[in-house]
Amino acid sequence: MNNIILLGPPGAGKGTQADLVCDLCDIPKISTGDMLREAVASGSDLGSRVSEILDSGGLVSDDIIGSLIQERLLKPDCENGSLFDGVPRTIGQAEQLADMKINFTHVIEIFVEDEIIVKRMSGRRVHPASGRNYHIDHNPPKNTGLDDETGEPLVQREDDKPDTVLKRLNVYHEQTKPLTTFYKGQSDSGLLKFIKVDGSNSVDEVFRAISSQIKI
Ligand code: AP5
Repeated sequence: MNNIILLGPPGAGKGTQADLVCDLCDIPKISTGDMLREAVASGSDLGSRVSEILDSGGLVSDDIIGSLIQERLLKPDCENGSLFDGVPRTIGQAEQLADMKINFTHVIEIFVEDEIIVKRMSGRRVHPASGRNYHIDHNPPKNTGLDDETGEPLVQREDDKPDTVLKRLNVYHEQTKPLTTFYKGQSDSGLLKFIKVDGSNSVDEVFRAISSQIKI
């Protein structure tokens, strides 16, 4: 059984690699970003509470994230492991996951320099209903501006505006980056495997670097 965490700054390629690793390991993706955007799109009470935070590039509270994860893990598809995409993002969230007794097998850090990220984000396009991700140059859809599977229009995310990307990067360095030290400590104690890959390489190269180090 594999329980995998994907860490990395906004735009590092977590979502892109998450889909590939989930296929490889036959486990579901738990993306708090996708779950929060779905809540906003559905107009739910949770959605109205988090919508401004998402648009501004801040972090949603640890309590909300903890409840979302706890509820998601009750679904039967998580029985044979899961991939955590973009969660935890704070030491508090990591402690919550530890309290849930999830035995993580791998923590994958995808690192990319800030300057590359700012450029990359301006080219990202998404299919809102599924969360499928594209890039106008590096990972284009078959037909410009349209989702490969449904043919529906792709959009640019509100939080991909340059100023908001810079804010998200600051939040990452202050609150999420410390998790690499936290999990490296667990790796040194033999509790899990910590894998660091260079996310500035191509999507295929990054996936090869990850998949060669995961035991299925
Ligand atoms: P979330 O959706 O998780 O955003 P993020 O972590 O900022 O990451 P992104 O989705 O922007 O990027 P990614 O690393 O997945 O890269 P991608 O594969 O898309 O969270 C959004 C917001 O929700 C947060 O800001 C926060 O407000 C809230 N939130 C979520 N989780 C939370 C939590 N746990 N706690 C508190 N708040 C939370 O790739 C980016 C682009 O680059 C794409 O266009 C892609 O095609 C392209 N690309 C990918 N790989 C490559 C490559 N190797 N080379 C060239 N281009 C590439």
